[in-house]
Amino acid sequence: MRILFLGDVVGRTGRDAVIAALPGLRRDLALDLVVVNAENASHGFGLAPEMARALFAAGADCLTLGNHAWDRREIIPYMEQEPRLLRPVNYPPGTPGRGAQVIEAPGGRRALVINAMGRLFMDALDDPFRAVQQALAAHRLGQGGTIAAAVLDFHAEASSEKLAMGHSFDGRLSLVIGTHTHVPSADHQVLPGGTAYMTDAGMCGDYDSVIGMEKGTAALRFWKKVPGERLAPAEGEATICGLFVETDDATGLATRVAPLRQGGRLSQLMPA
Ligand SMILES: [Fe+2]
Ligand SMILES: [Fe+2]
Repeated sequence: MRILFLGDVVGRTGRDAVIAALPGLRRDLALDLVVVNAENASHGFGLAPEMARALFAAGADCLTLGNHAWDRREIIPYMEQEPRLLRPVNYPPGTPGRGAQVIEAPGGRRALVINAMGRLFMDALDDPFRAVQQALAAHRLGQGGTIAAAVLDFHAEASSEKLAMGHSFDGRLSLVIGTHTHVPSADHQVLPGGTAYMTDAGMCGDYDSVIGMEKGTAALRFWKKVPGERLAPAEGEATICGLFVETDDATGLATRVAPLRQGGRLSQLMPA
């Protein structure tokens, strides 16, 4: 299976870039599954239903969220009726929406997508490790199993927690990829057990910024301790950041990983 994961879409510039690029990327990379983290798509905070619809229409098969899941309250009723939109699975029982979903891919293949959130330097949620284990419990990866591929978006601040997650499920997931820091890491690899891994996908947004937000206002927050202007997304050209993964249908495990960076200020990388 040919999978593309894109990191946190930030604001209009990130949205526009992803929506413009996805149809071409789907075609050129012959993608079977596209997963996009959209927690910052609406002016940097949350995801409005019309923006979710636009990302689906452009070619996303599944959207994931994170700590900004609830910033746009109107997403709650939409989430209840759109199974392809996930919020972290380790919110307490009774939280609206779902954190894992099987997505239909070409050729009758099925892919499980899970969204989980870390606990280091973040809101204290339920244990993400046990929540992922539980989400996986009913599934078996590879030929003869229930799913051809399984992708985890682990939305977390600390690289240690993300690496611990990757190694914990090495051989049981096709891909463990981090989101939330908005900066792409350089440690993409196939782990020894066959799971593709990257500590952070990076954001789809303007990198002349402080993690996607207008740099002047964001920097002032560190200089002054009184509340200043509201943060707003930077609006320069976005770099689309993510990871391309190829998996073997027989095992569901990764055979190749290649980072993707397109447009904007970052050095450009396109999977061969
Ligand atoms: Fe984010
Ligand atoms: Fe986040």
